[in-house]
Amino acid sequence: MSTAAGRARGTSPRRSRVLAAAAAGALLAAPALVATSAPAVALEDNPFVGAGQYVNPDWSASVEAAAGQVNDPGLAADMLAVADEPTSVWMDRIAAIEGTERQHGLEWHLDQADAQSGSSPLVFNLVVYDLPGRDCHALASNGELPATAAGMERYRTEYIDPIVALLDQPEYENLRIVATIEPDSLPNLVTNQSDADCVTAAPYYRQGVQYALSELYEVGNVYSYLDAAHSGWLGWPNNASGSAQEFANVIEGSTYGWAAVSGFVTNTANTTPLEEPFLTSPDLQVGGGQVRSAGWFQWNPDFDEVDWTAHLYDLMVAQGAPSSIGMLIDTSRNGWGGPDRPTAVSTSTDLNTYVNESRVDRRNHRGAWCNPAGAGIGERPTVTPSGHPESHLDAYVWVKPPGESDGSSVEIPNDEGKRLDRMCDPTYQSGELGGNYTGALADAPLSGHWFQAQFEMLVANAHPAID
Ligand code: BGC
Repeated sequence: MSTAAGRARGTSPRRSRVLAAAAAGALLAAPALVATSAPAVALEDNPFVGAGQYVNPDWSASVEAAAGQVNDPGLAADMLAVADEPTSVWMDRIAAIEGTERQHGLEWHLDQADAQSGSSPLVFNLVVYDLPGRDCHALASNGELPATAAGMERYRTEYIDPIVALLDQPEYENLRIVATIEPDSLPNLVTNQSDADCVTAAPYYRQGVQYALSELYEVGNVYSYLDAAHSGWLGWPNNASGSAQEFANVIEGSTYGWAAVSGFVTNTANTTPLEEPFLTSPDLQVGGGQVRSAGWFQWNPDFDEVDWTAHLYDLMVAQGAPSSIGMLIDTSRNGWGGPDRPTAVSTSTDLNTYVNESRVDRRNHRGAWCNPAGAGIGERPTVTPSGHPESHLDAYVWVKPPGESDGSSVEIPNDEGKRLDRMCDPTYQSGELGGNYTGALADAPLSGHWFQAQFEMLVANAHPAID
């Protein structure tokens, strides 16, 4: 098999069709024209409908090995019951394209996907995650490329171009590549502009996302979903409108505009619940205050991911997005089941007690993101989930493979650019978390590395329970 580096950037029949349509003005025009022109390539409205999804054999093998290490046969059986769920393949550094000693490369995965699909449509979930100055407000997933013009050039030529060259191979034409675009990047530009690193990174994030969207679109069978953080980050009215504006500016300033975007993905690698079943009305008065004014919500009216996706959909359509955009939610770790899950709404008349006793999210603070203790696997991957029409959900997906760490709890030397973020240290009390402890699990390995104790916890606390 040839390697990504060895491939010249081709003009496959698919790329030729897209480029010809672009040259004819069908796609490069204003968004209104884009929406009314015939698409150069027939993209599905919802790529998950009528398709299977790629099961990553590497992740399955990790799960099977994990099951072999536990003494509790019930827990082991539950692990094996999820071993064949589809999870995303992360291109988290340039070396991941070719493969490393820890991970197979992209071509290997695409070949496996091709074999799994047979003659039926198959979704291949891919994460594009290597922007210059990556993870500007945190350290655990700091990347390899500096936020400089030279870093941007490497992002284009050593990262996006080789990925696109592989996806563009004719043998992968029938795969539906669903790409999660650059987790946390644009959200960091909305809320973390007091952080000098995020200011420096801003132009590269915008240019990089635009480049990725355009190049991936030209492949012809890629469905890009832009990362839109989660309700506990962007739900406040100012953050929500600011992010809608930021997303629209980036998309509309890119070569193909909205044509290159299938929708948005929320909760990537986070643990914010799909629903807070006992806290459903932000305006309800309890103990003299509205529920949303409780310390836990801090006036954020979006209590969960169903709220945020519905809110975001409306904001994006108001910004000019076609009504056909869809939402994905990462439910891999937002289940919050297990013995500590509340089973009824609190009867307290004290507002904070009422919210704290009612919420299924057991974190110390909604901003805690690193290996949170108590989390569980959430909804299994589901196509067009029912019950939330206002959220316009294309699917629940497992973007973060359960069992892979969010960051190390102590400093661990590595060649991946990753650093210790104190949010991953259980002994740390963070100002950003209202002075609370992080609630992170101890003894965590580097981000992306297998974390057995976390996986055991996630399976044990799955909600819905695994049967
Ligand atoms: C890490 C990546 C990893 C991904 C999935 C991210 O937090 O930075 O290296 O591939 O999680 O586990």
